[in-house]
Amino acid sequence: MTTQTIKGTCVLVTGASRGLGLAFVKVLAERGAEKIYAGYKSTEGLAALNDLKLANVVPVLLDVTDNSHIQALAQQITKLDIVVNNAGIASACGFTAENVLENATAEMNTHYFGPLKLVNTFLPLLKQAPQAGIINIASIAAISNFKVMGTYSASKAALHFMTQGLRAELAGSTIFVQGVYPGPFDTRLAAGFDGFKQSPEAIANTILDLYRERVEEVFPDDFSKTMYQTFLESPKKLNEIFSQ
Ligand SMILES: NC(=O)c1ccc[n+]([C@@H]2O[C@H](COP(=O)([O-])OP(=O)(O)OC[C@H]3O[C@@H](n4cnc5c(N)ncnc54)[C@H](OP(=O)(O)O)[C@@H]3O)[C@@H](O)[C@H]2O)c1
Repeated sequence: MTTQTIKGTCVLVTGASRGLGLAFVKVLAERGAEKIYAGYKSTEGLAALNDLKLANVVPVLLDVTDNSHIQALAQQITKLDIVVNNAGIASACGFTAENVLENATAEMNTHYFGPLKLVNTFLPLLKQAPQAGIINIASIAAISNFKVMGTYSASKAALHFMTQGLRAELAGSTIFVQGVYPGPFDTRLAAGFDGFKQSPEAIANTILDLYRERVEEVFPDDFSKTMYQTFLESPKKLNEIFSQ
């Protein structure tokens, strides 16, 4: 089986202004990507990308919930090999919370409808690439409901099912579809989780090592590996653990 290449590719990374997205941009540049379209939402985000001072990084205004941004990007990008759906939010909201609909809508728009719209928009370009990829950053919370952030779990489960569906529908094409299911790692989003957390750079490197090897489902840290093993043995058992 051939390996998936980063060198010489054009890559779009969403949510690239900090955390795992910013780490992806750096690691993709180190691995020889030709052009990295790095999505930002704010002037601080743009500044963080400009601070990298990397000639092959092209900051692009991209709120994945804003259709006008996606349409503008579609006019700008004429060659694309890889899409990394990374942008994420976490409201720590349960289904019984008063503001559940507001949080659930924002998470579904960010984690499901945004990535779906992006993939739908850029699929024609990806199909033209000799070897393409879609990398969807879900979460171990996509595999079973995580009680303290129920609406987040549900939105990541939607992304997980989209990932599986895309893989099935694109089987036999030149587009490889990878789903990523991390446990907590060291970014602002996971500030509330105690215990050892890997750096986002380490997580990005693991993901791209396994992308090269065409590993379809990636559990990039010990926590997610253990939890997925529990899931394979007993989905009910994992649900009980995540419900505590
Ligand atoms: N950290 C963890 O422990 C962990 C575990 C499992 C999965 N994940 C997933 O990993 C991904 C990266 O998270 P992270 O930990 O790096 O979080 P982070 O440090 O909070 O970064 C999130 C990034 O997403 C961007 N973003 C948020 N909403 C967006 C939108 N509507 N459109 C475009 N960009 C948007 C943010 O931009 P602004 O700076 O402008 O807000 C920021 O650049 C997320 O999908 C997250 O769910 C994280």
